[in-house]
Amino acid sequence: MKRVYNFSAGPSMLPEPVLRRAAAEMLDYEGSGQSVMEMSHRSKIYEGIIGSAESLLREVMNIPGNYKVLFLQGGASSQFAMVPMNLMTKSNKADFVLTGQWATKAYQEAARYGTANVIASSKDKTFSYIPELNPETFTKDADYFHICLNNTIYGTKFHRLPETGNVPLIADISSCILSEPIDVSKFALLYAGAQKNMAPAGLTVVIIREDLIGRAMDITPTMFNYKTHADNDSMFNTPPCYCIYMCMLVLDWIKNTVGGLEEMKKINEKKAGMLYDFLDSSKLFRGTVVAKDRSLMNIPFITGSDELDAKFVKEAAAHDFVNIKGHRSVGGMRASIYNAMPVEGVEKLVQFMGEFEKNSL
Ligand SMILES: Cc1ncc(COP(=O)(O)O)c(C=O)c1O
Repeated sequence: MKRVYNFSAGPSMLPEPVLRRAAAEMLDYEGSGQSVMEMSHRSKIYEGIIGSAESLLREVMNIPGNYKVLFLQGGASSQFAMVPMNLMTKSNKADFVLTGQWATKAYQEAARYGTANVIASSKDKTFSYIPELNPETFTKDADYFHICLNNTIYGTKFHRLPETGNVPLIADISSCILSEPIDVSKFALLYAGAQKNMAPAGLTVVIIREDLIGRAMDITPTMFNYKTHADNDSMFNTPPCYCIYMCMLVLDWIKNTVGGLEEMKKINEKKAGMLYDFLDSSKLFRGTVVAKDRSLMNIPFITGSDELDAKFVKEAAAHDFVNIKGHRSVGGMRASIYNAMPVEGVEKLVQFMGEFEKNSL
């Protein structure tokens, strides 16, 4: 059997013990004589799975009791519409910080439903930094303030949250959920596509403060109303059953094998630190992001020559470091090193980059 080091931005690696457990349970889940893929979502046994996934998520992320956890579909991209349809309903205004392609998509979609204000943008320098924010410029009566906490394509992360006062803060945490502890109580709503740090593609997790449920616009489709899903414990219709099961296994791995999000953070800092240290001392490669805004999960880098970049990507793939090409909008390289990337994968990548450098200079 062959396993490569997969640096994909998502879908991405899953922890090997999780894949092994899923394989072992594939044909007969806990003596039920069925695969989880085959089960009725209304069965007692499946109720146990979705219930465990939720309680593990609450425990691992320390989610306060006044928040609902929703297991949805439609990807983080559906949240770009669901958030305004449900929440842009009092002043009809919301604030946005444009820190990349996903943050911009969230803004553009919201602008279809109300007044979307751009508070700051880092587009001037290809989103290579997080803009300074001045709370004086925020819309005082906005229905919410939206950020993308970790910018998957450009490799930046908000290390300090905007001070929005009474305006609800909402964040897309698709590419940093479960990578380190996060104070959920600072946010009104968090959402994430699961395909990076949680599960296979097909599941979207929403964590929403209860008082924000039930305010949707009249035009909101039933399936896009948070209340529909909150009132039915994510079982209004058939949920993404197998993805939720995989999410349960990943959460169990984080809790019981890794030892929780503080430990996960230490491992992620170790991995990212190795790669950033190498980039900072390299004579060939360099990171593209302002040092103070660097992400722990997505690390873009370049050589400065398109030709050498292409050569590196090709040779890396031949050595089983796959999907290391940068996003098509920025070029160069990007190593996405989510929770499931072993420390050894980054060690080996850095060693390979060192050898490539020696041979190229
Ligand atoms: C930060 C962020 N937001 C949103 C998305 C879009 O997610 P989806 O494909 O689940 O709609 C992505 C996808 O990579 C992402 O990285």
